[in-house]
Amino acid sequence: MSKKKKVEREQFASRIGFLLISAGCAIGLGNVWRFPFITGKYGGAAFVLVYLAFLLLLGLPIMVMEFAIGRAGHLNIAGSMRALEPVNSKWHVFGYLGIIGNVILMMFYTTVAGWGLAYFYKELTGAFNGLSPEEIGTAFGMFLGNTGELIFWMALVVILGFFVCSLGLQAGVERISKFMMSGMFLMLLILVFKAVTLPGASAGLNFYLKPDFSNFNWEGVYAAMGQAFFTLSLGIGSMAIFGSYIGKERSLTGEALDVMALDTLIALLAGLVIFPTAFAFGVDAGSGPGLVFVTLPNIFNQMIGGQLWGILFFMFLTFAAMTTVIAVFENIMAFTIDEWGWERKKAALRNGIGIFIFSLPCVLGFGPLSGFAPLGEGTMVLDLEDFILSNNLLPIGALVFVLFCTRRPGWGWNSFIEEADTGTGFKFPKWLKPYVRSVLPLIILVVLIKGWMDVLILR
Ligand code: ALA
Repeated sequence: MSKKKKVEREQFASRIGFLLISAGCAIGLGNVWRFPFITGKYGGAAFVLVYLAFLLLLGLPIMVMEFAIGRAGHLNIAGSMRALEPVNSKWHVFGYLGIIGNVILMMFYTTVAGWGLAYFYKELTGAFNGLSPEEIGTAFGMFLGNTGELIFWMALVVILGFFVCSLGLQAGVERISKFMMSGMFLMLLILVFKAVTLPGASAGLNFYLKPDFSNFNWEGVYAAMGQAFFTLSLGIGSMAIFGSYIGKERSLTGEALDVMALDTLIALLAGLVIFPTAFAFGVDAGSGPGLVFVTLPNIFNQMIGGQLWGILFFMFLTFAAMTTVIAVFENIMAFTIDEWGWERKKAALRNGIGIFIFSLPCVLGFGPLSGFAPLGEGTMVLDLEDFILSNNLLPIGALVFVLFCTRRPGWGWNSFIEEADTGTGFKFPKWLKPYVRSVLPLIILVVLIKGWMDVLILR
């Protein structure tokens, strides 16, 4: 008997566990950090509307496909594609690419998640109390320049994430993610209530909720498409693995709708915290990636009881980031368990060491490697890794999944529909077949080509 076959495959204990973990994988820095700053940059409510349209048009069908591949193949994305592909075909090679994509995502995600954890600690110890706005800006710059500190927080994220995975699917991943997701909802609701009741919050609400297309352009459309992929973790099989841990009781379109709704709810609510707060304190909502790490600590400093709000916000951000980290680590773990027969605890240790080493270039990019500007002036290792992932692997993987699920040289439309529709609940609309087979791949190609054009033009 091969080593592989001896490994018992756990399932989720409950449907709610599956939904919360999938949502936890989707909900993360993409919602709390990336969504607010790009919404600010691309003009507020008009961007939000286009983004919502892409979630439905692009995100939903691809998420159903990933769940279906995982549930039918009953393995990680590479193993599942190999199990479902016609004999002698090579679709599963893209599954390996997906696993590499998960690793690349973690290569920079652990660094930014580490910032969140560090800022939670800094708020907890009152490190920002009494600092002027300039001093808070400088503090962020100095923090990024302190390589030792960045490595410490990144390493802590890696250790915590793999420790949870080492405890098992139900006892670790499911139990801890459920706890963090519930805590996160609660913290977010309290923060929203505080933000929308601040004096002067209404200008922020208008910016965020009243669409004005006069300043909206194609760049915004493109950014909205990319954000839809990133926020749902689609294109690298991150979601497929959770399909492999569930039974056939529920149809997959309904489940994907629930996950998407949760992800969207959190992103929209995070915006409801950030925009009213920024406007109430006269801060530019389009200030970019620093919006969360510079602007918000500043704002908290000016608020009565601000330290408490700061603690709550960065705890919320850390929980959101950690649920993604744990989910993606589980994906990488499952690959090494399924494919190489590694025992779970050993897999956690080996993968932990590997991800820590792979995460170093991103951290070093802020210090010793800061002279390296891979995508043009002002860019760094993080931008390169994000570009490889978001502008290449996510759209390429999504394109492959769509072709695999809708065309006969792949798994094919009938097999996909049969799997997606097995169980009770919402069924995949069959009349969408021409759209899914032909239009969807075209939209993805546009994302891919546009991503490259931006880089070539910017250089
Ligand atoms: N989907 C993950 C996030 O939004 C990557 O953070």
